Amino acid sequence: MRNVRIALTKGRLEKRSVELFQQIGFDCSALINKGRRLILPMDNFEVVLAKANDVITYVEHGACDVGFVGKDTIVEAGADCYEMLDLGFGKCRFALAGKAGVDFYSGYHERIVASKYPNVAKAFFASKGMDVRVIKIDGSVELAPLLDFAHGIVDIVETGSTLRENGLVVIEEIMPISARVIVNKASLKLRRSEIEGLLSDIAVAVQVL
Ligand code: PRP
Repeated sequence: MRNVRIALTKGRLEKRSVELFQQIGFDCSALINKGRRLILPMDNFEVVLAKANDVITYVEHGACDVGFVGKDTIVEAGADCYEMLDLGFGKCRFALAGKAGVDFYSGYHERIVASKYPNVAKAFFASKGMDVRVIKIDGSVELAPLLDFAHGIVDIVETGSTLRENGLVVIEEIMPISARVIVNKASLKLRRSEIEGLLSDIAVAVQVL
């Protein structure tokens, strides 16, 4: 049987994820000196680096057993896997934002909201009973209200500086976000002891980090 595979999200969460494995005491030398290699050995595990959406796809389908990924991507994808641990880093939040000084909720006109997370945005307005047109944008969603293309955006806010530097403000907080550990449903049954051992190591390291 192959080693248990862990999919890590590339980019913002990557450094903290590797630090966590070092904290546990795993040999991270291949992960640190990865060059262009895509599958990296780490003790008795194989580590894969992938984009957040792909981490979910690989874990949902069992190509990887365990994934480190942001709650934002999990919620947007409606991921069909177990969410086992909150890693406590990658903290930010989903928020509705718009131009400073403009009341998003006033008036009866149709509202357009731009978002990289259309499912999250639709669910948020549905929970308020509001009929809002949500349009998917792939990057720098903050541009949409500045171009008068949208009345608001639903996006991730971390430090708030992207909003601030573009004259935008948070209208309403939607949900806190942080990095989570997800596990494939079948893997948790078939490789229970290995995966539970890994999860308990991670849980201890997270408290120390
Ligand atoms: C995210 C998000 C905001 C920004 C918020 O984008 O979409 O634009 O970070 O962070 P802040 O509150 O600290 O300013 P990201 O940098 O991931 O880039 P992207 O637009 O290419 O997805």
